[in-house]
Amino acid sequence: MTEKPKILVTRKLPQAVERQLEQNYQPLLNPDDRLYSTDELISLSEGAAAILPCHTEQLTAEVIDRLPDSIKIIANFSVGVDHCDLAAAKARGIVVTNTPDVLSEATAEIAILLMLGAARRASEGERMVRSQEWKDWSPDFMVGIQATGKRLGIIGMGRVGQVMARYARDAFGMEIHYHNRSRLPAELEAGATYYDTVEDLLPQCQFLSLHCPATPESIGLLNAKRIALLPEDAIVVNTARGALIEDEALHAALVSGKIAAAGLDVYNNEPTGIFPGYRDLTNIFLLPHIGSATRETRDAMGFRALANLDAYFAGKEPVDRVA
Ligand code: DGY
Repeated sequence: MTEKPKILVTRKLPQAVERQLEQNYQPLLNPDDRLYSTDELISLSEGAAAILPCHTEQLTAEVIDRLPDSIKIIANFSVGVDHCDLAAAKARGIVVTNTPDVLSEATAEIAILLMLGAARRASEGERMVRSQEWKDWSPDFMVGIQATGKRLGIIGMGRVGQVMARYARDAFGMEIHYHNRSRLPAELEAGATYYDTVEDLLPQCQFLSLHCPATPESIGLLNAKRIALLPEDAIVVNTARGALIEDEALHAALVSGKIAAAGLDVYNNEPTGIFPGYRDLTNIFLLPHIGSATRETRDAMGFRALANLDAYFAGKEPVDRVA
């Protein structure tokens, strides 16, 4: 009988996923959910055929070059793969997969939460109630911006962007405008208006939600020049990756009031090095990278990563291969 392949699992996964992993593999689990250093990751990979990492593991070209030859596949527990140098993996013949589709609804839910939270001053209000600073009610009290019927701009009309568009349109009657690398077919566009360039889209966006991956082309996409193109009082939401936003520029626009409010779930240098100025602003609604954090979605992400491993070890092409 051939030995079950050894899999290095870098973080604690949902229980049902870990149990299933144990059926077909010898997983090296991380029950304490400790973040491994690069040296630990490399030494724990010795003799393993696969790594099942999250976006918390920085698999740079240098790290990938140091991985033992036994590693044949990196089956990410994430849709985003910006933490993983795909070219370096390809150069070493290591297959890389991700977990698309299964987190689109959960992430779009958080984008809606951020959009409404920012527009309706949710974290400011919540803090006021908790700290007992809430003393009065008046017609002028905690007045925010209504989303219903407004124009929502979406940059990146992939899986998550499309669900966000549907929720915003169906629940709040928002008018959808978007930019994407290529225009969607009419049935997926569902009445949304396409713009060839980000510059053409931005002046339309009373609300703007970012849904594109972080790539060399999209890093710093929302900079001061582009923020200047937004209408006054726009609201900016980011559930994709922090790298899409130039923090100094967004912060300055929130301070000056050019942008009315922002809702962020992802950050440059998260979790401990996020732009400090954000913490002092009241017109920003901040969440700790929880777009996919529902029980259902985390299970589905784990089973999707497993399906990619199963395909690879059965000699088939993993459905979510990205390198
Ligand atoms: C993803 O899947 O990319 C989420 O951001 C969690 O890593």
